[in-house]
Amino acid sequence: MQQRGRFITLEGSEGVGKSTNLAWVAEWLRSRGVEVVCTREPGGTPRAEAIRELLLSAAFDEPLDADAELLLVFAARAQHLAQKIRPALERGAWVLCDRFTDATFAYQGGGRGIARARIAELERFVQQGLEPDLTLLLDMPVSAAQQRLQGRLQTKGEIKDRFEQEQADFFEAVRREYLSCAAQAPERVAVIDVSASLETVQAALATCLEERTREWL
Ligand code: TMP
Repeated sequence: MQQRGRFITLEGSEGVGKSTNLAWVAEWLRSRGVEVVCTREPGGTPRAEAIRELLLSAAFDEPLDADAELLLVFAARAQHLAQKIRPALERGAWVLCDRFTDATFAYQGGGRGIARARIAELERFVQQGLEPDLTLLLDMPVSAAQQRLQGRLQTKGEIKDRFEQEQADFFEAVRREYLSCAAQAPERVAVIDVSASLETVQAALATCLEERTREWL
């Protein structure tokens, strides 16, 4: 029987360099002969991407209720799991996902103030025991991450989405919750300090991947 693939997630606040590092991790795994499916949340399938639009759009003249936001995040996740993540893992591919449920604890829990227990209830309902095998939490101080985000938006001529428009205290709460998730599950979550140079960060990622994936490759 085909062995189930591994599920790796990348987490971190806006501006920590998730895209660059995700591409690097994907290459690292592919160079070791692994089939890698790269995806993201919210999104990853056409219908889940449509839910992402609804979540990120700042165009509506109406606030988005925090519970509605939480349910939309999990609706997108249910679709993504059913259509893409579970089928890929079952055929033996590794899934590398830009954000997953730690982001819900960080943004909807830390940022919006929804109780951990309520999020955990939906986690059980939607995921039915499926958890990432490894989570790489890219961490840096909020002020530095915000500067990087500003630089990226200016270079690309993009405007801020609904989450990016939040203030520094929101992102401080997001970061605190992410670090608390890591402290609660150190066997799953590795914290990578991304305030150093790209070479230093990639060296840290390589060391971490070598250690944590040794028994899976
Ligand atoms: P990004 O993937 O381009 O960083 O943007 C996705 C945004 O969605 C980001 O601001 C974090 C937010 N988000 C949540 O609020 N909860 C979640 O569970 C996930 C996956 C993302």
